[in-house]
Amino acid sequence: MLRLDGGGQTMLLNSRAGRPTLAYWGPALPADIDAAAVEALGARAVGGGQLDAGEAFDLFPEAGRGFTGHPALALSRENGGFVTQLAFAGARAEGEDQVIVLADPAAGVEVSLRIGLDPGSGVAAFRSRLVNTGADPLRIDWMAAAALPLAHDEVMLWGGRWSLEFQTGRQRLADGLIVKDNRTGRTSHHAPPFAVVGQPGFGEAHGEALGVHLGWSGDARLLFERLRDGRMQAQGGELFLPGELTLAPGEAYETPILYAARSEAGLNGLSDRFHPFVRRRILGGRLAGKPRPVNFNTWEAIYFRHELGELKALADLAAEVGAERFVLDDGWFEGRDDDTTSLGDWRPDPRKYPDGLGPLIDHVRGLGLEFGLWVEPEMANAASQLLAAHPDWTLHAEGRRQPLGRGQYVLDLTRAEVAEAIFAQLDALLAAHPIGYLKWDMNRDLTHAASHGRPASHRQTLAAYALIDRLRAAHPAVEIESCASGGGRADYEVLKRTDRIWTSDNNDPLDRQSIQRGFSVFFPPEVMGAHVGPSPSHTTGRRTSLATRAWTALFGHMGIEADVRGFSDAERAQLAEIIALYKQHRALLHGGRMLRLEAEPGAIAFMVVGAAGALVSYARLETMRHAGLAPLRLAGLDPDARYRIRLLTPARNAPLGTATATGRLLEVMGLPLPLLGPGGMAVFHLERA
Ligand code: DGJ
Repeated sequence: MLRLDGGGQTMLLNSRAGRPTLAYWGPALPADIDAAAVEALGARAVGGGQLDAGEAFDLFPEAGRGFTGHPALALSRENGGFVTQLAFAGARAEGEDQVIVLADPAAGVEVSLRIGLDPGSGVAAFRSRLVNTGADPLRIDWMAAAALPLAHDEVMLWGGRWSLEFQTGRQRLADGLIVKDNRTGRTSHHAPPFAVVGQPGFGEAHGEALGVHLGWSGDARLLFERLRDGRMQAQGGELFLPGELTLAPGEAYETPILYAARSEAGLNGLSDRFHPFVRRRILGGRLAGKPRPVNFNTWEAIYFRHELGELKALADLAAEVGAERFVLDDGWFEGRDDDTTSLGDWRPDPRKYPDGLGPLIDHVRGLGLEFGLWVEPEMANAASQLLAAHPDWTLHAEGRRQPLGRGQYVLDLTRAEVAEAIFAQLDALLAAHPIGYLKWDMNRDLTHAASHGRPASHRQTLAAYALIDRLRAAHPAVEIESCASGGGRADYEVLKRTDRIWTSDNNDPLDRQSIQRGFSVFFPPEVMGAHVGPSPSHTTGRRTSLATRAWTALFGHMGIEADVRGFSDAERAQLAEIIALYKQHRALLHGGRMLRLEAEPGAIAFMVVGAAGALVSYARLETMRHAGLAPLRLAGLDPDARYRIRLLTPARNAPLGTATATGRLLEVMGLPLPLLGPGGMAVFHLERA
């Protein structure tokens, strides 16, 4: 029996029957495990009407071995061969991981299953790799990173749309399959590969749950299935275009990583694993001790109307309210007056910037702010010098007109000369100017994802990663924000090479509350771009107070994205005050433990706890149903410590301004809340006495 330990968990992999099964995954077991008992308890009775041995369900179930559910592998050869019977061919430890090798020499297939359990967080990583050991080409239609057994049947999926990302919905897994497909060529707004499967009714703090995420920024599938014997499985893998993946003899394919974590304490128990995991393993610790600067982003302030004098005035005011980085969004490059032209021509527009970007950058840096720049490197408009010179540089199917997305095409980055040309332009910009930050956007779905007549969605995703990696290697000090029409590219694989995710184009704080809540299950707050936008909101038209916009943004990587020239003096003063609090509490906000709280309907509440105290946020999205609000019961505090409580959002009718109480009292009795209208927020600071 192979064993992995981490994060207070033990995982046992059994390959005795020639196949690897996840025999146990749960709370840590003692050193001397009773292998015979684990094996005995894993046995299943076989009902009638099935194959004699029942469903051959394991970590990599195959039809050829008697599995009638959705197999982990679907492949074929020209000669008609499609049956595989992979058998255990060895296991080895590689670093912290266990690798199990399965082989079917007759079918010419070898599969390695790599399983890791992060020692600190207990997040597991599953990944499979197939080598074509046969003599002719092998076509793969589906290959799962792994098939995981499910203990419960309530499936929570992440979905949404542009401008309302990270919305969750629940359904029960009755019979058959629940399949969540993403065919947009980016992580997507509506079908990002995140899910939680838990005990019916699991909540923020209660219920057993399994969280899964496929780290991949292209087409992907998550599936959940109830087998006919009642057992359930989850799989995750890449979605291929028809005939996309054919391996020549000796070639290999490796799946993206399926990350998974178990919790006995609902969604918060999952975040308690995923957040430290992201901090240490996905980001490699590179944001630790690097305070997230307050961004000022020009998009909703000026859109395409770039004028040096105006930009300088915006930078002055941004600096005045406390911004630390100035990000010049879309509209700065040659000919870009709206979204119909010029992607691909990454040179400053001489009409708007007659002396190049230098004067603006000097001004911004003179104010003590870092300078950042928006780019969309994977795209080109038909009306661009780039495509005029190289009309065939797009992903396209010969002789077919493809639908446009935002008037643009996807560049074929799988072609070395295309990737090189884009790299050279970006590299020249970064070499010529002290640019500390790139906002890397990606604004259309992939269709006709073909290169030289072959499907290329998979290779395009890898090529986009390679372009980012190459740029990072050449300019290691430059931070990168991952954006795709808002939150369309948010996943662990892109986050390995980026430092911030633009969560949504929706800056309406009330919508933001639910967007940020959904985002927060798998991602820690410091990578969550959150901006103070204009009122009325440019995406929803809703009016909200400056306080609600600023307090909502404070709980992520805070920024401003509005024409601050139009703010009143009082609003600017209030913004400066809340930004100062962000800076004061940044270490707590970005290093603490984030816990979502169960609030009554129509409200969203959460807190961030650290050694020295906590910040608590309660946002009222709807009108109060009753004449008062139930106290907000807190979590994660030291029960015996005393906390000095202060309400940071002044409110008439606030039953409590300041007080001192133990963590135990606050968890049982809760914080009394002020009366709040829709759009009202109460934020408390708890200082450990
Ligand atoms: C989409 C992004 O999400 C926005 O923030 C902005 O950068 C625009 N693109 C610019 O075109």
